[in-house]
Amino acid sequence: MDKKLEKYLKPNLKEARMRKSDIEYKEFILDEKYKSLGEGKKYRIQTYGCQANEADSEIVAGILEKIGFTLAEDEVDADLILLNTCAIRENAENRIWGELGRLKIYKKDKPNLVLGVFGCMPQEERVVEKILDEYPYVSLVYGTHNFYKLPEYIYRLSEGEKRVIEAYSYEGSIIENLPKKREQTHKAWVHITHGCDEFCTYCIVPYTRGKERSRLKDDIIAEVKHLVERGYKEVTLLGQNVNAYGKDLEGDYTFSDLLLDLDKTGIERIRFTTSHPRDFDDKTIEVFRTSKHVMPYVHLPLQSGSNKVLKKMNRGYTKERYLEVIRKLKDARSDISITTDIIVAFPTETEEDFLETLEIVNEVGFEGAYTFIFSPREGTPAFSYENNITEKEAKNRLKRLNDLVNKGYLEGSKKFQDKTVKVLVDGFSKKKDGVLSGYSEHNKLVNFKGDESLIGKIVNVKITKPMTWFLIGEYVK
Ligand code: 5AD
Ligand code: SF4
Repeated sequence: MDKKLEKYLKPNLKEARMRKSDIEYKEFILDEKYKSLGEGKKYRIQTYGCQANEADSEIVAGILEKIGFTLAEDEVDADLILLNTCAIRENAENRIWGELGRLKIYKKDKPNLVLGVFGCMPQEERVVEKILDEYPYVSLVYGTHNFYKLPEYIYRLSEGEKRVIEAYSYEGSIIENLPKKREQTHKAWVHITHGCDEFCTYCIVPYTRGKERSRLKDDIIAEVKHLVERGYKEVTLLGQNVNAYGKDLEGDYTFSDLLLDLDKTGIERIRFTTSHPRDFDDKTIEVFRTSKHVMPYVHLPLQSGSNKVLKKMNRGYTKERYLEVIRKLKDARSDISITTDIIVAFPTETEEDFLETLEIVNEVGFEGAYTFIFSPREGTPAFSYENNITEKEAKNRLKRLNDLVNKGYLEGSKKFQDKTVKVLVDGFSKKKDGVLSGYSEHNKLVNFKGDESLIGKIVNVKITKPMTWFLIGEYVK
């Protein structure tokens, strides 16, 4: 290991794979000496990647405000700039390197500005080494397991430590009662599990986010009840594989039990992401028939339509199993909207394998999909798989897939022509004055004219013009 790294607490992807620590459940406690650390100082957080990162940034903002920091309206005014990073694909990482290059300029006028990087990228030793070598002006680096220790790190910097670099290979505990500064006042993220134990061969997440661990059901239910009391209308339950909820806990309380309990809390809308086709059990499918508040929408990553490729990806299901889950979901709720994730050009994927993917996309009628070209991640098994697919061919497959997916988006939108849908209004759309936007029960983005008083409410909107990416409608009083 590089000498420079020795004095820091550094991660190691090989160790991260081992799942050796026991999980403790702890409460967040703020030491007296940290309580006014941020007084008179301003912060900015830039968040990249998935919803788990967005939820984590809300916690980090909550912690910072608890110790006296206030939000800087403009990054020029910030005394602390933190990047919450994503490691899932190479281009996600490249954006961060570019951003760090851009932010360097502020250090000139403000030498005391603290520039920090946290989240998934610092869980990779390669990243920490690169920051040490090439970004000397980045003084704070910490991972996904220890972001609650931020007050201590800021304290150490204020006491004169030049750089604080701390990322653990193994997962820490589950910390409850963390402060949160929620972005919205009507819909909220709620973590139900942390980490992932699936080890899909292409994916870095089980290494960067550690062992799969479920929050206790009473903590989750209490959090949702508290949100209801404060007027929240919607929760999105978060986990890398929500269907595995509870498997690491004692007893036989599983995801479907949690959904049914949350259905009784008074929350209007329940969503969840991400699901795993192997673990999506019949009891959970049944919830779509029986619950009042679970929304008719599922994001169910397919990844590939070829059994050979699925096996090489270690996904743990066949295309037949995937289609069975879809069929059962449609039986339970005929109007259900389904979206997915697909990777093209995974090592060994042939034209025939790819055509099988297109076939399933056609058959299922996805109403949306996130599509990606395979990106080799160092430390994962697929990184060293031989890959003869040229970039040109990979791009060609992505384009053909996207053309088909876009048709699905439009078909999904057209289903709502002349229908009145219920929209939870987020706010004014960025593009046009006087146009509100929000999401329907089927998770369609809906734009319509209306006034400020509707923000945060669930209102009826009649769809007049379905577009590929969103629906246009008229407010129905
Ligand atoms: N390359 C391309 N796509 C990936 N994903 C995860 N890892 C990789 C990778 N190495 C995609 C999967 C996953 C989504 C969040 O990102 O489709 O479902
Ligand atoms: Fe990655 Fe697979 Fe876990 Fe999803 S289920 S986070 S793709 S390892």
